[in-house]
Amino acid sequence: MSAPSLYDNHGRKINYLRLAVTDRCNLRCFYCMPENICYSAKENLLTFSEMYRIVRVMSEMGIEKLRITGGEPFLRKGIMEFMHRVNALEGIRQIHITTNGTLISDKIPKLVKLGIQSVNFSLDSLDRERFFEITKRDEFEKVKDALYQFIESDITTKVNMVVMSGRNEQDIIPMALLTKDRPISVRYIEEMPFNGEGNRYMKTDYFNFEKIIETLKTAFPDLRKIPDPPASTSLNYAIPGHAGTVGVIPAFSRTFCGTCNRIRVTAEGTLKTCLYDNGVLNIRDALRNNISDNELKNSFLTTFNQRAKDGFEAEQQREGLPVTESMSTIGG
Ligand code: GTP
Ligand code: 5AD
Ligand code: SF4
Repeated sequence: MSAPSLYDNHGRKINYLRLAVTDRCNLRCFYCMPENICYSAKENLLTFSEMYRIVRVMSEMGIEKLRITGGEPFLRKGIMEFMHRVNALEGIRQIHITTNGTLISDKIPKLVKLGIQSVNFSLDSLDRERFFEITKRDEFEKVKDALYQFIESDITTKVNMVVMSGRNEQDIIPMALLTKDRPISVRYIEEMPFNGEGNRYMKTDYFNFEKIIETLKTAFPDLRKIPDPPASTSLNYAIPGHAGTVGVIPAFSRTFCGTCNRIRVTAEGTLKTCLYDNGVLNIRDALRNNISDNELKNSFLTTFNQRAKDGFEAEQQREGLPVTESMSTIGG
C-alpha cells in the first residue's frame, strides 16, 4: 500500500516525527539543561505502549521517518524492543537516532541488524577537558570510541556540534578534520535558548551559521557548497580531498522553515508542530482519556492545519512566554 501524504496549511509535506523517549540524560550539557534539572515524574512520561500508538497512528497518516531522541534515548529501559516494534510498522521506512554516544557501543550489532538508517552523535569538543567543561561528566573517551566504532559500521554517522563562543570555537577546525579520512558528516549547530533558563548567552560574538562558515574558510578556503537533501536542516559543504562533508545548521536563524517536514512529540507526550511553539496538543492526556484512533487523527489534522509558517511566527504565538524549556524534554 502506498503511504498517504500529509500536508500542512502552508503546503509543506509532513513526513518526519521526532520522538523524545525520555527527558533523562547522563550528561549535563549547560546549553541543554540546568545542572540541577528537575525531571518529570515517571507517570508524566509517555509509556512505550502510548508511544507505539502515537507512532502507529501517525504512520497511518503519512509519517515515514522516525527519529528516536531524548534526553539520552538509551537510558530508557526497553528502547531496543520499542525500536523493533516500530520498525515493523508498514509506514515507517526509516529510523534514525540522536544520542550522546555514551551508552551505545555494545548495541552496534543489534542496530545494524535492525537496519537503523543513521546515528547522529552530539559531540561538542574533541578535547577531553573541554568536553568535561561542557557536559560536566568525564565520558569523552567512551563517546570517542563509540563514534569510531560506528564509523566502521554500515550505519551512516553524523556528528552534531553546538558552537558556542568562548567555549568550543577552537574545536571547529579539528572537528572538520575528522572528515578527512572518514565518510561522516560533521554539522555545526547554532546555539538556541532551550537550556532550562533562556536567552542568557546572546552576546555580540554569537556564532551564527555565517560566522561558522567564515571560520571554516580560514582553514579550508576551497570549501564548496554541495546540494542539500530535501528538507535538510543543514547547509552542506565539501572540503576538497576529504572523504566526508561538513554542514551548518542555522537552528536559531531559522532559514530552513520553508521546507520544514517535521513534528515533535516530547517525552511528556506534547505535540509540537514547530520547535519554537509552546506545544499544540496534549496527546498523553487524550490517550489516557481513551480517545479513539479516528478522533486522534482528527486532532492531529487540526493542529497540522494551524501550523506556524516558521519558527519566528511560532515564537510570537507564545504570547510573551519566553523560550526557556530544556531541550532534553523536547528532543532537539
Ligand atoms: P538529519 O535527519 O540527520 O538531517 O538530522 P536532523 O538535523 O533532522 O536532526 P538532529 O537530531 O541531528 O538535529 C540537529 C540539530 O538541528 C539540533 O540542534 C536540532 O535541535 C536542530 N533541529 C532539528 N530540526 C530542527 C527544526 O525543525 N528547527 C530548528 N530550528 N532546529 C532543528
Ligand atoms: N541549542 C542548539 N542545539 C541544541 N541541542 C540541545 N540543546 C541545544 C541548544 N540549546 C542539540 C544537541 C543534539 C540535538 C538533538 O540538539 O546537541 O545534537
Ligand atoms: Fe520547522 Fe519550526 Fe524548525 Fe522552522 S523552526 S524548521 S518551522 S520546526
